[in-house]
Amino acid sequence: MRITLRVIGIGPGNPRQITLEAIDAMAGVDAFLVLDKGADKQSLAAARREILDRYAPDGHRVIEIVDPPRDRHPADYDAEVRRWHAARATLFAEALTATVPDGGVAAFLVWGDPALYDSTLRIVEDITTHTDLDIALEVIPGVTSASALTAAHQILANRIGESIHITTGRRLADTPAGADTNQIVMLDGDLAFRHTADPADHIWWGAYVGTDDEILVAGTVGEVGDTIAEVRAAARQRLGWIMDIYLLRKAVD
Ligand SMILES: C[S@@+](CC[C@H](N)C(=O)[O-])C[C@H]1O[C@@H](n2cnc3c(N)ncnc32)[C@H](O)[C@@H]1O
Repeated sequence: MRITLRVIGIGPGNPRQITLEAIDAMAGVDAFLVLDKGADKQSLAAARREILDRYAPDGHRVIEIVDPPRDRHPADYDAEVRRWHAARATLFAEALTATVPDGGVAAFLVWGDPALYDSTLRIVEDITTHTDLDIALEVIPGVTSASALTAAHQILANRIGESIHITTGRRLADTPAGADTNQIVMLDGDLAFRHTADPADHIWWGAYVGTDDEILVAGTVGEVGDTIAEVRAAARQRLGWIMDIYLLRKAVD
């Protein structure tokens, strides 16, 4: 069985930050696949629903797939990860075979851009490796939350000629000296900059960027570090979830 599988970047939450290419790619899709990741669900569901209502063809199907269970502390970590990837690939292949006709089109809607901290393309690779489904893959880029952040703050991500490092909160402390001039930090539940940055470094922080709930704070880490922590905790409490990102820039000596 051969299907076309479109991985479509939908931007970071504002339905108007979707590209014409993404809208075109939604036409003719038989089924949209959604990986239900529990915590992510709340945040993604409303935006995804709005995008599907606006742009998906009438009569399209949405298939929610729950991640198979995974042993987080196995004796053989690599073997368990391989087993889990194969199990997940099999679930997706079964759902695709059951809902998409031979020669049909399925799509994943991916938050932001599919190339940045997203597992969808890895899942597609697993499906191709572990099952005999014949997939013609198409990838549509999306506006990443990194661009939404810099646009919201009306800033460049770098001073003249400087490099930019994109990382996660968990890896922030591992950034090599020299690569830390401008850092865009995603997936940081712990505001890791408070343990790594100097008070004179500058931070541009944003939560729910591009959406009606957008919150922006900017200043030196010394000035606004505590404010960001307070604002973040209050917003999370109020809305029940949070999505935030920041640009951290080293002060020049
Ligand atoms: C799993 S990653 C996905 C990144 C996505 N592929 C992208 O290009 O933006 C999720 C992280 O993206 C960031 N993020 C995504 N959308 C955001 C938004 N609207 N406002 C702030 N941060 C956002 C947060 O750092 C969040 O932890």
